[in-house]
Amino acid sequence: MSAHTKPSPDRAPDSSRILIIDFGGQYTQLIARRVREAGVYSEILPYDADPADIEAFGASGIVLSGGPESVSVEDSPRVHPIVFALGVPILGICYGMQALAAQFGGKVAAADHREFGFAEVDLVGDDPLLGGLKTGSRALKVWMSHGDRVETLPPGFSPIAASANAPLAAMADVKRRLYGVQFHPEVTHTEHGLQIIRRFAVDICGCPGDWTPSNIIAEHIDRVRASVGTDRVLLGLSGGVDSSVVAALLHAAIGDQLVCVFVDTGLLRLNEGDQVMRVFAEHLGVSVIRADAEERFLNALEGVADPEEKRKIIGRVFVEVFDEHAADIDGVKWLAQGTIYPDVIESAGATTGKAHLIKSHHNVGGLPAAMKLDLIEPLRDLFKDEVRKIGTELGLPDVLIHRHPFPGPGLGVRILGEVKKEYADLLRRADAVFIEELRASGLYDKVSQAFAVFLPVRSVGVMGDGRKYDYVIALRAVETIDFMTAAWARLPYEFLDRVSRRIINEIPGISRVTYDISGKPPATIEWE
Ligand code: XMP
Repeated sequence: MSAHTKPSPDRAPDSSRILIIDFGGQYTQLIARRVREAGVYSEILPYDADPADIEAFGASGIVLSGGPESVSVEDSPRVHPIVFALGVPILGICYGMQALAAQFGGKVAAADHREFGFAEVDLVGDDPLLGGLKTGSRALKVWMSHGDRVETLPPGFSPIAASANAPLAAMADVKRRLYGVQFHPEVTHTEHGLQIIRRFAVDICGCPGDWTPSNIIAEHIDRVRASVGTDRVLLGLSGGVDSSVVAALLHAAIGDQLVCVFVDTGLLRLNEGDQVMRVFAEHLGVSVIRADAEERFLNALEGVADPEEKRKIIGRVFVEVFDEHAADIDGVKWLAQGTIYPDVIESAGATTGKAHLIKSHHNVGGLPAAMKLDLIEPLRDLFKDEVRKIGTELGLPDVLIHRHPFPGPGLGVRILGEVKKEYADLLRRADAVFIEELRASGLYDKVSQAFAVFLPVRSVGVMGDGRKYDYVIALRAVETIDFMTAAWARLPYEFLDRVSRRIINEIPGISRVTYDISGKPPATIEWE
């Protein structure tokens, strides 16, 4: 199939945003993030999105992502002709380049050698994308991951880079502003990768490159004020990064019109409830209603050992408590939520069935049935790192912004089997020692998530002259990028030794500490 619609190069861009068309590649989210790092707003749509949506997005330029399929296979995904009809610059990456080449009349075939990992490409053109990127040797170290390659360029295109296994490693039709690279500029291993992305988004597409956290905040504040007017907005504050940033942002936008409900389930970390109140109510002056519901949660969980059952109960009681408090607040018309962009992509990706599988968890309770509230999700365009930057800019403390993730059901899934107050209290103290030591040793930010787990089994020990017969604590620390797979953190023995001694010495009721050395898969990060 070749493209029937020729792009018209001189049409002015509608606005300053880049659209990424997703062919199911593992790096698609990374492309969007890099474009944003270059200061240009970007969004992702699946390749089979409604053409009307593609057009309505108003892109100044389009990036075609990589993907797992082969262009030479019939029925493999193609670029919708609307993309070419828009007349904006296009950058095809890997599969995106191959699709571009095939649809403009070039030839793509399986390469003799599949290429994965580092490769050197020679820059052979003076084009605006790659030209002059390397002054000394003309070779550029890049990240490759492909089986197919372009064999014959489509009419109008010239080669702009060559590697040993892919003589046509990059191509350009400068006049029509169409570019293709076989390698992955979005991956940090590619030399000058961000610069290549910036050249495309800013120099070639003409975007100003001024999309920064403070601009984002100003824009969102305006947007929130415009939609909310003088109505009141309700937010479930969990103490996690996302809902905290929503609170700070909405408070900056609408001040007292924001009312937060913070449900203390009794399954939070040590002093967490007080900390949330300190940061928001005292420091930021946000109006926070604290619902102390420990007893209610513990009562509901009494005698229940099954993990899924516990999760369901915690979720149900959370919604009940949240709703009861929300119903008492007058004049609320909106419910705010801390949905972020990866959550949105995840649900949209379902149309292609090829998008990344990132687990989503819902922390915040449902809508009170009687209150007909509209939803406001001010972070739904943002990636986690952007959410963090905004939070910092809005004055949230680092300890909160760079906190490890904490599951909605809290300690409820870190106490194995039945949840009891005695267990939760012991676990909170052990967890606090572990985290305190991680921070003191500069290890907290090096691991992705760390916590203690309570095992309701007794083990014998000696302390002084006495015999102990007490509970066991397991420590868990993992390193991961997406939380879908994880490696156990190789924490130093001396460090683990110190933590173990402190926990056993300082917390009566614990006689033994173990370290979890299971990877994910096959184990999950949480124990339940
Ligand atoms: P697993 O245990 O599935 O955890 O390897 C992956 C990530 O998700 C977090 N997690 C949850 N978060 N509600 C949440 O909000 C939950 O029910 C839940 N279960 C797991 C976990 O802490 C880890 O970061």
